Amino acid sequence: MKSLLLLVIIGTLTASQGAQVAERFAAQQRSVSSIIVDTLESMKVQMVDGWEQFGIPPLAPLKISHKDFNYESGEIFANGEFDALEVNGLNEFEIKVMDANLVISRIKYELVFASLNVTTQYKANVGAGYQLARDGGAFLALENLRVYGQIKYSTGLGGSNYFRIKELQVNIAVDKVVSNIENLSKYRILNRKLNEIVEEFVNITINENTKLVADWIDTTVTPVCNDFIGDRTIKDLLDIINGGGSN
Ligand SMILES: *[C@@H]1O[C@H](CO)[C@@H](O)[C@H](O)[C@H]1NC(C)=O
Ligand SMILES: *[C@@H]1O[C@H](CO)[C@@H](O)[C@H](O)[C@H]1NC(C)=O
Ligand SMILES: *[C@@H]1O[C@H](CO)[C@@H](O)[C@H](O)[C@H]1NC(C)=O
Repeated sequence: MKSLLLLVIIGTLTASQGAQVAERFAAQQRSVSSIIVDTLESMKVQMVDGWEQFGIPPLAPLKISHKDFNYESGEIFANGEFDALEVNGLNEFEIKVMDANLVISRIKYELVFASLNVTTQYKANVGAGYQLARDGGAFLALENLRVYGQIKYSTGLGGSNYFRIKELQVNIAVDKVVSNIENLSKYRILNRKLNEIVEEFVNITINENTKLVADWIDTTVTPVCNDFIGDRTIKDLLDIINGGGSN
């Protein structure tokens, strides 16, 4: 998700800056927005192969063969491992809003993922005063996931490549969460009930921590983006986004 976000943001900014250079004196915002949309569309295609030269694996689907996890919060803990983890739908987003305002250097955006879902096998030890060992298959889907906000950037004068993100606002909201984790309980009804608790927990975590997520992204992703952009020219960045596997 972080890699994807990084790419979407860089794609957006790069396309905007590229267009700005090309059309410096014509405030053709609508056309800039459509260049950004085109760049994102070509990113979707490239996500199938990933960006190997930058260590970004195929993202559609994203496959992770093994991952350990360790979660602890007060009395509750869960640790264990995921195997054959697969994330689907990272490239299945619709660009609902892409609105560039060149005069105030701001881009508003909204991306909607119809279904972003994960399937995996899990093994876990969970406890809350007592301890249980669980394993089985698991499926979790975020349906109608909306990622929206705005990006403020600054550009240099006189044709320099200076280009920095000043503020990155990312809000996340989800309409529906579907959880289908096997074997939380051997009783079917109780298992469904436990999945409903997971659904509610994930829903609330995403929908109510909006500001927290926005701040976190602004303080962590923004510097990473700026580092990545560094001294690269707009053409370098566009080549990267479009898969330009030049090396
Ligand atoms: C998982 O996501 C993909 C891509 O959005 C979608 O095509 C598929 O139907 C989803 N799977 C389920 C079981 O919802
Ligand atoms: C987990 O659940 C699946 C499907 O309900 C069942 O086939 C399997 O035997 C269960 N595994 C364990 C370890 O209980
Ligand atoms: C998801 O969370 C939002 C905000 O907390 C709430 O309004 C909504 O009813 C929740 N939906 C479900 C299905 O729990």
